[in-house]
Amino acid sequence: MTVRHFLSLFDCSKQELTNIIQRAIELKKLRNNNIPHRTLDGRVLGMIFEKSSTRTRVSFESGIIQLGGQAIFLSPRDTQLGRGETIHDSAIVISSMIDIIMIRTFGHDKVVEFAENSSVPVINALTDDLHPCQLLADMQTFAEARGNIAGKTVTWIGDGNNMCNSYAEAAVQFDFHLKVACPKGFEPDPYYVEKAKGHIEVMHDPKEAIKGSHLVSTDVFASMGQEDEAADRLQKFQGFQVTEQLLDLASPDVVFMHCLPAHRGEEISETLLDDPRSVVWQQAENRLHAQKALLEFLYQQVQA
Ligand code: CP
Ligand code: NVA
Repeated sequence: MTVRHFLSLFDCSKQELTNIIQRAIELKKLRNNNIPHRTLDGRVLGMIFEKSSTRTRVSFESGIIQLGGQAIFLSPRDTQLGRGETIHDSAIVISSMIDIIMIRTFGHDKVVEFAENSSVPVINALTDDLHPCQLLADMQTFAEARGNIAGKTVTWIGDGNNMCNSYAEAAVQFDFHLKVACPKGFEPDPYYVEKAKGHIEVMHDPKEAIKGSHLVSTDVFASMGQEDEAADRLQKFQGFQVTEQLLDLASPDVVFMHCLPAHRGEEISETLLDDPRSVVWQQAENRLHAQKALLEFLYQQVQA
């Protein structure tokens, strides 16, 4: 039996992604109506974090508990992973005792190697390359706020980082047009741009890129692991702040998203998160619902 993993949006078919999002919307209703949904009763989720997290940790941990399972939080600081035990060996051992594993780490090759040696599904909870779980929540949020995203225009403003790469994958999987506006030298990885060929345009003028857009998204200028570059990036990203005035140039029914955490006054104006066009709090909450649907989906594949 082949174990299904979720390291990238391309690990699921378009139909599977649509089903996961539909289920997320259903699970949200069940929770809001206090209807029990213990579909993963007694299952254990392993959570390996080599980088900090608020939303991802809280949503996965609450999510598995609400589904009737439990979570084990594994930090490299107090497991042998932090003392040189190989990913290969750790994956074999940990997956022999646990039902599903999520990993947040630096190099994308680490989650790939872990998955190759794991006997249970592995979820990418953010690497330097991709953040596919966030895109499930973003796509759920757009579906709730505006309906089908197919054929719409999405603008990414700022760093061509892990989130931007995942937007490039989403453009293909959810069939929208992505315009990326980034400073020269901060374009998304050519590997992901190539994969999104026909769905993506990379440009350098935010005002041009935002015209007619139905969804505008941005992220911090310096991601986790780039703390030393923060001051330099602040200079180089001048002109790439998303403000209410910039958003006025988008489609009148635009929604604004940010995966959070945000640096108010840097990549966004101080007040943008509070603008009526911002759906960031709903987007953050949807991490919970979307990942519950993902956990159910991956576990169903194990049983199939
Ligand atoms: N958006 C997101 O992944 O947030 P955390 O880093 O808080 O998990
Ligand atoms: N690009 C950011 C996303 C955080 C959720 C980072 O990698 O730090």
